[in-house]
Amino acid sequence: MIKADNISKFYNNECVLNDVSIKIEDGEFVVILGPSGSGKSTLMNVLSGLEKPESGKVFIDEFEITSMSDKNVTAVRREKIGFIFQQYYLLSHLSVLGNIKMGADLAKNADFMKLVNALGLSDKTKSKPSELSGGEQQRVCIARALAKNPKFLFLDEPTGALDEKTGREVLYLICKLKKEQNFTIIMVTHNENIADMAETVVRMNSGKIVDSYKNKTQKTAFEIGW
Ligand SMILES: Nc1ncnc2c1ncn2[C@@H]1O[C@H](COP(=O)(O)OP(=O)(O)OP(=O)(O)O)[C@@H](O)[C@H]1O
Ligand SMILES: [Mg+2]
Repeated sequence: MIKADNISKFYNNECVLNDVSIKIEDGEFVVILGPSGSGKSTLMNVLSGLEKPESGKVFIDEFEITSMSDKNVTAVRREKIGFIFQQYYLLSHLSVLGNIKMGADLAKNADFMKLVNALGLSDKTKSKPSELSGGEQQRVCIARALAKNPKFLFLDEPTGALDEKTGREVLYLICKLKKEQNFTIIMVTHNENIADMAETVVRMNSGKIVDSYKNKTQKTAFEIGW
């Protein structure tokens, strides 16, 4: 469970999150929509413990991370959180396997080759990130994030830099792995169609959650519009 109670966050006296509360259950698939600058990434950073709010509480399972030391928050993050950014942030001097192994080593997960195969990267393990397409780099990021078996997977615009075909494939793989590993997904996107894949859709505007609803049925990555 991830829960935020009345969180507010300011940058240079500007209120970026304004008294936001949200509760995300284990195994849920949440999509966060909203215009640019509405606070989506900031909310993700605060919910995942990357940043602290000025007021309010954030819980990751039984841990109230807002009252914990940075060191202890890092330990909780390491155990429970996977984060996939729009920019790939792969280490350019490491191979594909080296990058994925870094995630796996963090959690002493010896079983990461299964992920490498599931994400179609077996032929690319020796390549450097610069030798890969955008979709391939994004798949390496997904493998790296999932290699440590996170309970909660945060994705900030995972398909933002991908074309339609690659974007659908990446989303399909994420959902397939979710079924197998049963992690929780919290995903920010500008693509309104992706909301049809989620269980819960949250809409933000000007630092507030302005709408939240559940889908009765969920579409697959190949059924949604684009
Ligand atoms: N590190 C920072 N320092 C100062 N201001 C920031 C910082 N990060 C975000 N902001 C500001 O906070 C507001 C919300 O930013 P945020 O990145 O959360 O929006 P967003 O909804 O993710 O937008 P986008 O869809 O463009 O990614 C913006 O006005 C932004 O300029
Ligand atoms: Mg953002």
